[in-house]
Amino acid sequence: MRERMLATERVRAVEWRDGRLYLLDQRRLPFEERWLGHDTAAEVAAAIRHMVVRGAPAIGIAAAYGLLLGVRDRLAAGGDWRAALEEDFAELAAVRPTAVNLAWALQRMRARLDRLRNDAGVLEALEAEAREIHQSDREANLTMAQYGVELIRKHDKAPQRILTHCNAGALATGGFGTALGVIRAAWLEGLVEQVYADETRPWLQGARLTAWELAGEGVPVSLVADAAAAHLMKTRGIDWVIVGADRITANCDVANKIGTYQLAVNAMHHGVRFMVVAPTSTIDMSLDSGDDIPIEERDGRELLEIGGQPLAARVPALNPVFDVTPADLVDVLVTERGVIERPDAAKLALLMCRKRLH
Ligand code: MRU
Repeated sequence: MRERMLATERVRAVEWRDGRLYLLDQRRLPFEERWLGHDTAAEVAAAIRHMVVRGAPAIGIAAAYGLLLGVRDRLAAGGDWRAALEEDFAELAAVRPTAVNLAWALQRMRARLDRLRNDAGVLEALEAEAREIHQSDREANLTMAQYGVELIRKHDKAPQRILTHCNAGALATGGFGTALGVIRAAWLEGLVEQVYADETRPWLQGARLTAWELAGEGVPVSLVADAAAAHLMKTRGIDWVIVGADRITANCDVANKIGTYQLAVNAMHHGVRFMVVAPTSTIDMSLDSGDDIPIEERDGRELLEIGGQPLAARVPALNPVFDVTPADLVDVLVTERGVIERPDAAKLALLMCRKRLH
């Protein structure tokens, strides 16, 4: 199955080449495939802030390479470059607060740096660390896709109708995708009848990115308005809601794109299974519950305008871009270390201290 998955891989979001970080500009998709080169930590921070790259794992990967660029510049400037580098750590860490993968990746870069006593080989070691963060995310996605398929098959062998929200695909990760990785692999196994992609206002990650990724592989996908979800669950026999995550706390509460919580409530009401697919880099055991997760609020203009054109009355707009789904609405959590059905704090603690459950 792994070989078949790899054969379908078509989309990448992040590329490190010849000492530059290239990011596929996701603001332009699906209309234009434009890669932007980045040479400094500040440029990478701006790219994350302005959504050139988005999706929790992809943000973490970009930040790791951004930090590497920071090290290169600070090292060349000489003096107490490790102290000066703190500015880059701080700038990159602050750009988007909800996805914990950002802090996780920077923490890994810091740990690697701290192990290096002198400056010889610093750049090579940190480049290797950033590449490893990138590569291991892709590997995790391939593993999770297989676990997700086993789960779907366990519940029902007939092709499934699946609803997804936002974009948790190759574009949001180091490759293949989390939620979309499961959906893609299930399609390859003949387990998908139809995918419904929520538009995902206001950035339209579902309409622009998920629909594009799936259609490009011939997966049957229909775009639906975010507000159509409950109606579809009632009338179209949705079998699964499958989503990614930006941060999962120790009690298994799940932060993900705004609108996920209402999907989970609706799924519970209609008896639709709710699957969250996320690598362990998205799990934050330092927070007890979702109440502690910082929820990013973006500029209200993202709701009031589209492409600079006004589309609403002139009123203030409130724009929280993530919400928290309580653990008891989640049927199953899929990670690269294993699967947890009816996730709770005890099961997650066990998973986090084991290498593999399967
Ligand atoms: O604002 P975004 O586009 O970065 O939000 C992305 C999401 O909410 C995704 O669902 C999440 O990061 C999981 S991606 C594998």
